[in-house]
Amino acid sequence: MSFLAARMARARISASAAAAQRTRELRAAGHDIIGLSQGEPDFATPEHVIEAASKAMRAGQTRYTPVDGTPELKEAIVAKFRAENALAFKAENISAGAGGKQVLYNALMATLDTGDEVLIPAPSWVAYAYMTEFADGVPVWVGTRAEDGFKLRPDALDAAITPRTKWLMLNSPSNPTGAVYSADELRALAVVLERHPHVWIIADDIYEHIVFDGRPFATIVQVAPQLGDRTLIVNGVSKTYSMTGWRLGFGAGPAPLIRAMARIQAQSSLNPSSISQAAAVAALTGPQDFVGARRDEFEARRNAIVPSLAAVPGLHCSPPEGAFYLYVGCAGWLGRKTPQGKPLATDEDVTAYLLECGVAVPNGAGYGLSPYFRLSFATSMAALTEACKRIDAAGRRLG
Ligand SMILES: Cc1ncc(COP(=O)(O)O)c(C=O)c1O
Repeated sequence: MSFLAARMARARISASAAAAQRTRELRAAGHDIIGLSQGEPDFATPEHVIEAASKAMRAGQTRYTPVDGTPELKEAIVAKFRAENALAFKAENISAGAGGKQVLYNALMATLDTGDEVLIPAPSWVAYAYMTEFADGVPVWVGTRAEDGFKLRPDALDAAITPRTKWLMLNSPSNPTGAVYSADELRALAVVLERHPHVWIIADDIYEHIVFDGRPFATIVQVAPQLGDRTLIVNGVSKTYSMTGWRLGFGAGPAPLIRAMARIQAQSSLNPSSISQAAAVAALTGPQDFVGARRDEFEARRNAIVPSLAAVPGLHCSPPEGAFYLYVGCAGWLGRKTPQGKPLATDEDVTAYLLECGVAVPNGAGYGLSPYFRLSFATSMAALTEACKRIDAAGRRLG
């Protein structure tokens, strides 16, 4: 009998986490590596948020709270949805957890039975497929095309739905492509979903505030309110407020689902940190001006690096509409050889070669579409400029 449970075979480590770990190891061994793997803003958590957390600790907010969030936090989240998304939720529709990731995990664990299918547009954030498998479900990748901006087409969605489909994952802006669905594009998907009332929708809006070129942000329930009784919105403070380490995310959806999610969370971590909850209240209700300023900085970085990378022979990338990732096509490098004579057969070979050249990025296979690699531009312009130089030089050395 094996000591570890059989389910451990389904507890997988993502390409981005593996690349980040490898970066730490190589740096510890004295190598000069530019890490462009991880999806977290490089900005500091705003001072007023830190101050609120510190005050909360001194005021004794250091104890257990209700499992899925304090009344104050739920009120702040309800107000956020009303003000920013014109959506009317009540406290009973809100669930707070240790990051958007835990909220997603709770939702899948609470709803998936063995063999239930989750539709995941390819490419998507690796965690969707891994978590689905871990929760006994079946990830069903639905292809998208670069010429459609990697967005799910209504006919592809329609064709992928089966009687076992439980969820559709919709992430806009998208990790890893930066695709942003317009209100019209969401409406077209909603038309299909209306024909399949057994399919629920997860709208992962975690990058809501990182949308470029003045595009408006839209979420599916806003444009198709009739889907509200089968949609869970997932969001959080990690990306908008540079609070990845605080671990505070939230979901909004039908009360019975929210109650089931709280029961899952009660089996593991109980409430998210009381201090992080107080900090999140300050983030959501405090000044918002820096949010736009940080978005502008991401946009400036995007504008600087896309032309540099697109100019590298054999690589291909288009400007993302949001988030802080480039999904770079590397088909033009496959079949070539590294200076050591190693042939590049897959995008994993490409990212291994780039690591040798001092740039750490995860390969596309885990995101469901190859041959690509994902590059996070949530780092300084200086590091990005140097990374582009290294990638260009790496390409020129290929045989
Ligand atoms: C698409 C997407 N959704 C959700 C999350 C979860 O973020 P967190 O758990 O920090 O709230 C991430 C984090 O990288 C993400 O990329």
